[in-house]
Amino acid sequence: MENTPIAPKKRIFSAIKPTGDATLGSYLGAIKNWVSLRDEYDCLYCIADLHALTVRNDPATLRRRVLEQLAIYVAAGLDPEKCVLYVQSHVPAHAELGWILDCYTMFGELSRMTQFKDKSRKNADNVNAGLFTYPTLMAADILLYQADLVPVGEDQTQHVEICRDIANRFNGAYGDTFTMPEAFVPKFGARVMSLSNPTSKMSKSEEDANGCVLVMDSPEEIMRKFKRAVTDSDTVASPVYYDKENKPGVANLLSIYCAATGCTMESAVAEFEGKGYGAFKPRVGEAVVEMLRPVREKANELLKDKDALVSIYTDGAAKAAYLAEKTMRKVRRKVGLTERPRY
Ligand code: TYM
Repeated sequence: MENTPIAPKKRIFSAIKPTGDATLGSYLGAIKNWVSLRDEYDCLYCIADLHALTVRNDPATLRRRVLEQLAIYVAAGLDPEKCVLYVQSHVPAHAELGWILDCYTMFGELSRMTQFKDKSRKNADNVNAGLFTYPTLMAADILLYQADLVPVGEDQTQHVEICRDIANRFNGAYGDTFTMPEAFVPKFGARVMSLSNPTSKMSKSEEDANGCVLVMDSPEEIMRKFKRAVTDSDTVASPVYYDKENKPGVANLLSIYCAATGCTMESAVAEFEGKGYGAFKPRVGEAVVEMLRPVREKANELLKDKDALVSIYTDGAAKAAYLAEKTMRKVRRKVGLTERPRY
């Protein structure tokens, strides 16, 4: 029988920065998709601690969050035997390629990044250079591993776009060096909004902690936050319907419900026909509690054995560094850096 060649799996890269505790937003926008794609692709998932340095962190808290984030990755279903799970700063090639790509990225294009404009407005006293060149480090993360697909929430798609522009520029100058990555955004959960201010994104840096649900929140905390979620004062018999423009709070809760249960928008709206917010909000809360319960419980279990987590990220760093070095050898040669001596 003739041997049919097996096409190599395509590659996924994605990351979360540990600037705050993992949120329902990053779970639905990113992690849930990572899990659903894990068998079809060759996957690398990173804890982007270098990216976290663009804001001031308490060092011990940052270290705690790195381990906790790793525990969440594994607890969510990312098997360290099948996916490469590692910490960004353990693979120095990220910073090295980040610098090289800085030199192939224009001031003008970085200035146009929505997140840079947003974050500089919010942190006016700390608009550091890292915040500005953040997208080039992110491009380095992706391009180092020749990733085909980058599953992210909607807020990161502009950064994947600039990564493609940088890759195009580099490939145009030096011939094919980097794979052209594509962003992959989920149907529901791509932009989870704050529960207390549904016109702004749910985020770890939110002022009102009630607006942000954390993956590690207890069921009681999750229920409390959903019961307090802002809706509107619609007085019709069936106020639960999807109208993003005029009913952003309800639209957000419906999208969360669909993402958490896997149901369609039509069936979600049908389920709440004739019901008021008093029934709707706790039901969404329960769906989120049930989705996150196994993740929180497993993560807490994993956190009891720090050595095992350290061994997962050590193994991950070795695998990632091997792949990164393959790309770096090409890049260094192409841009004209002298071959590294052995020392
Ligand atoms: P970060 O840490 O802000 O968010 C991690 C992931 O979660 C998604 N996300 C959301 N999705 C839906 N609704 C929300 N409210 C929400 N909040 C966060 C984000 O879109 C993201 O996918 N720069 C990245 C981290 C990063 C990265 C990379 C991502 C570093 N290097 C390389 C992809 C590839 C960031 O700050 O995401």
